[in-house]
Amino acid sequence: MEIMWHESLETGVEKIDSQHKEIFARISTLISADIENMKAEDREVALHKLLRFLGGYVIDHFKTEEEFMTKAHYPEYDEHKKEHMEFLKSYSSLVRMFEKEGATDLIVTATQNQAVDWLIKHIKGTDQKVTAFLKSKK
Ligand SMILES: [Fe+2]
Ligand SMILES: [Fe+2]
Repeated sequence: MEIMWHESLETGVEKIDSQHKEIFARISTLISADIENMKAEDREVALHKLLRFLGGYVIDHFKTEEEFMTKAHYPEYDEHKKEHMEFLKSYSSLVRMFEKEGATDLIVTATQNQAVDWLIKHIKGTDQKVTAFLKSKK
């Protein structure tokens, strides 16, 4: 999946935009590390790093976005928040799996599908709707 940042994703809110750029940059660095083909030890470290990033920076980013949507009286706040909660749910189950079984093939693939691809899709789709709303208010 394409993970290049594109200016069409801009919301015009500096804080959200710079966080999105950071998410794209960090994920592409971590993905280009080619976790699938690493030896077991390195793979463990790389996946741990990726999960830590998702659970730290990304979750803080959701909070920023939610605060902002509340302030702007965004009409689709509930739906948007629900998607963030879905991410949290799959993220927690990935962490539990990782703690129990380590960086197995299954967890690497599940992290890619349920967290990374999901996140990119969310930024390009659901977050993009916030952009459209802001532009219409200008
Ligand atoms: Fe976002
Ligand atoms: Fe979002």
